[in-house]
Amino acid sequence: MKPPAPNVPPALRPFGPDMRDVGGPRQPLYIVKDLVKHFTVGGGRLGRAAVVQAVDGVNFDVHKGETLGVVGESGCGKSTMGRLLIRLVRPDRGELILDGEEVGAPDGITVRQLQRNVQMVFQDSYMSLNPRLTVEDTIAFGPRANAVRRDEARERAHNTLTMVGLRPELFAQRYPHELSGGQRQRVNIARALAMNPRMLILDEAVSALDKSIGAQVINLLQDLKRHLSLTYFFISHDLGVVRYISDRVLVMYLGKVVEIGSVDAVYDNPRHPYTRALLASQLSMNATERRTKPPLLGDPPSSINPPTGCRFRTRCPLAEEICANREPELVGFARDSLVACHAATPGSGHASAPPLCPQHTAKASARMT
Ligand SMILES: Nc1ncnc2c1ncn2[C@@H]1O[C@H](COP(=O)(O)OP(=O)(O)OP(=O)(O)O)[C@@H](O)[C@H]1O
Ligand SMILES: [Mg+2]
Repeated sequence: MKPPAPNVPPALRPFGPDMRDVGGPRQPLYIVKDLVKHFTVGGGRLGRAAVVQAVDGVNFDVHKGETLGVVGESGCGKSTMGRLLIRLVRPDRGELILDGEEVGAPDGITVRQLQRNVQMVFQDSYMSLNPRLTVEDTIAFGPRANAVRRDEARERAHNTLTMVGLRPELFAQRYPHELSGGQRQRVNIARALAMNPRMLILDEAVSALDKSIGAQVINLLQDLKRHLSLTYFFISHDLGVVRYISDRVLVMYLGKVVEIGSVDAVYDNPRHPYTRALLASQLSMNATERRTKPPLLGDPPSSINPPTGCRFRTRCPLAEEICANREPELVGFARDSLVACHAATPGSGHASAPPLCPQHTAKASARMT
């Protein structure tokens, strides 16, 4: 059964300087350049400190109005990337550019401006809410912290509750423990929308919900995106949901982007052996297609001491000497596909690499136009 379309009231009034479409529709909403985040762990009495390379030199763009799905095994750095994009964690290196304005640069925007324009919704709907605040106060908190008047913040909370399909007269005064998981996640979405953002980072936002409730929230997100011209960065381990909701998909492995492209390119013609294995690991409903052996054997190597060269080489059926010696760059062949794999890069020297031909020589600088 199709859930009712959200009742979207007249556009929420922006507060603070409105950054909407500074650079026009062709300017990527978000540009991520050479982003690095390493965490130092241990180092107490128990032993020597180690460095986890959670995100290690990542480049990509997020286009205006798209949903960019993000997939990869547990621990590959998806959540760290999401947190970096709203500066919940500080990058060690790299540039974040929102609609042409660099975050933290003297002539760019501040972290506070970034956080008004980009909001995040987490997997754990209960932990994300303050148990002592009513739904109304939770949603009004962000606008209040940005100097919006109390009555206006309250009106904003009621508007956004209506938008996410919760009647304010029934839900505004409730506490988080008085809500179901699906309702709590709708409140989290309303809280994000109350800031009038341009982009939402959805980190496993429907993963903890049961299938039918998750499907309703997905449909709600699709409707909100259309009505409010939002852009989504959609992190999920559910490859089916990512295919359904995304325009493009970014595949991560051990802190690196290994493939990025349109949903059709990545799902129907995956070029990276890791993407192929990840897609093959989906359970098939068709008994004849079921596998007896998992396509990805073993756990991924530790991101404390990742393999040299290509990080996937220790599990890759195509690995050769070059894969241990040289790190593959993200290279674009078609407009809608970039991949970091020697076996897919024309003229790389890998035995499976396609031959060089003129249209294959143009290297994309790890980003699609
Ligand atoms: N604050 C932190 N301190 C130390 N290590 C961290 C911290 N946050 C993340 N890590 C490490 O960084 C790596 C990437 O973690 P991250 O949570 O980003 O992965 P993920 O892809 O979101 O995984 P999952 O699919 O399980 O949510 C992991 O090895 C994790 O242990
Ligand atoms: Mg995560």
